[in-house]
Amino acid sequence: MIIGIPKEIMEGEHRVAAIPETVKKFVSEGATVLVERGAGEGAFYQDEEYVEAGATIIDDVKELYDKADLILKVKEPQFNKEKNMHELDMMHKGQYLITFLHPASPANHEMVKKMAQVGVIGLTLDGIPRISRAQSMDALTSMSTCAGYKGMLMAADALAKFVPQIFSAVGMIKPANVLVIGAGVAGLQAIATAKRLGAVVYATDIRPDACEQAKSLGAKIIDTGVPSEIAIGEGGYAKHLPKDWLIKERESLRPYLKDMDIVFLSALVPGKMAPILITEDMVKEMKQGSVIVDISIDQGGNCEITPPGKVEVKHGVIINGIKNIPGHLPTSSTWMFAQNMYNLVKYLMKDNKINLDLNDEITSSILVTYNGEIVHTGTKEAMGLI
Ligand code: NAI
Repeated sequence: MIIGIPKEIMEGEHRVAAIPETVKKFVSEGATVLVERGAGEGAFYQDEEYVEAGATIIDDVKELYDKADLILKVKEPQFNKEKNMHELDMMHKGQYLITFLHPASPANHEMVKKMAQVGVIGLTLDGIPRISRAQSMDALTSMSTCAGYKGMLMAADALAKFVPQIFSAVGMIKPANVLVIGAGVAGLQAIATAKRLGAVVYATDIRPDACEQAKSLGAKIIDTGVPSEIAIGEGGYAKHLPKDWLIKERESLRPYLKDMDIVFLSALVPGKMAPILITEDMVKEMKQGSVIVDISIDQGGNCEITPPGKVEVKHGVIINGIKNIPGHLPTSSTWMFAQNMYNLVKYLMKDNKINLDLNDEITSSILVTYNGEIVHTGTKEAMGLI
């Protein structure tokens, strides 16, 4: 099997889908690995290291797409300005593609249709179910870990104050107050990071289990009074709250916001738009110079006025809606991503070939296009096809 690793072309994307360590494993298991020249540079993995691991460096990405049976990428296929053609137009029928496709997102519907037309067999990393046997392949969880850590550091960096308590000859400076809303994978990492920085950390979530975990990391829990039967759905996941409960949740958070220096927003119900937990009115009541980092921005954001993809000051509050936070931690995020990718490819392979078992829970959850058709339920629903 020939595996192709192109350089990512989205602006500001420094990650890459394979590192020398995973290339070495693929090669030792019988695969041939082609890596586009400079593909790992953004994450500080050099071409020579890939060659040492057994890869062949390819100058022309068209050749790489042409030769490979399986393409591993970080971001969905897009228009390659340098080649003046879409990445999908360099691909061919029966070729496998594994990446984050976010196929249900309306912005990607045309791309998914094109993928089916070309006959590419597309598998999406954001479809990996959060079940224990899939943990080692779960790149979304890895990237949330990165976003929780780096997002909190971005907040601390934007804050015009010390985060820890400081004793000085001119007096004591109080530690910053941090509130994390949504204590899932990213939120818990953000809490741990804020604690390490020396902040006084508050947290809230509508799932009692998440609150327990936040508490064990040293956060003070804010009880928003949402009853578990309203908050928790099938499999222990959070449910999208009805409007009246969402309003009650906002009202219980409102008095705390006034005292916060940093508010980290990471509340989400998988497959839904992010709940709005901070309205513009609530931002107006926050302290001047306080910081909001809203990492749920890809799903619309938890704050009503978060600027998508940007940092802006609104009503004296610095609001960060930067989207690709793991891309700002490229070596660690790439390391995690590449390990997840390797484990997934290994899981899908039999006798040095990809062998899809369509009845398997992991495979069926990630398969998006197959035999020229769109087969992913969530995508078909989002497209109005079922
Ligand atoms: P998760 O599903 O592990 O956690 C989300 C948490 O939000 C859950 O604990 C859930 O109970 C909670 N929640 C849901 N509704 C709530 C409500 N009304 N009030 C309080 N809590 C509520 O998700 P994960 O992996 O931690 O991701 C969090 C967010 O971070 C997602 O929106 C994800 O897309 C985003 N993300 C953003 C990145 C970026 O670069 N901006 C990178 C990685 C993740």
